[in-house]
Amino acid sequence: MRLPALFFLLVVFLMPAAQAGPIEERQANFKANNQAMRAIASLIGAGDMAGIAQNARQIASWADEMAAYFPAGSDSRGASPAIWQNFDDFKDKAAANKAAALRIAELAEAGQKAEIGGALQALGGSCKSCHFAYKN
Ligand code: HEC
Repeated sequence: MRLPALFFLLVVFLMPAAQAGPIEERQANFKANNQAMRAIASLIGAGDMAGIAQNARQIASWADEMAAYFPAGSDSRGASPAIWQNFDDFKDKAAANKAAALRIAELAEAGQKAEIGGALQALGGSCKSCHFAYKN
């Protein structure tokens, strides 16, 4: 095979990876959020406070970055255009999500197991409140 043809094939082969933009990345992070929520629920039963704190901190750190993964014009099937009409409110909802996740991490680190179930419900509420307003 001549070199230019090989180069062309390589470019075509690598293109999808190069195109993975904010939409794909945020969807992957939201999927990870779901897994972290499930992990926390089952780790409560196991009494694994360190594991709970770790998953909660992962949710909090994604909440911190979330807004940056919604640049103007990054509409998707899942993301409502209302996000960009109310971006301050969208950021407030991400901040509330972060606070709810940090609360779980703090409870777990303090060994306050009995309160984690309620805090997990509150965290789920903060996911739903954003989805209700901004997720299609
Ligand atoms: C501030 C708003 C906001 C918060 C908070 C939020 N989400 Fe989302 N979520 C979205 C939006 C918007 C989408 C759609 C993104 C897209 O498709 O481009 C989404 C998509 C998702 C998806 C679908 C991902 C996919 O494409 O398969 C899951 C699962 C999800 N979120 C779970 C969660 C969980 C769990 C939490 C709480 C721990 C959470 N989200 C908190 C706004 C939010």
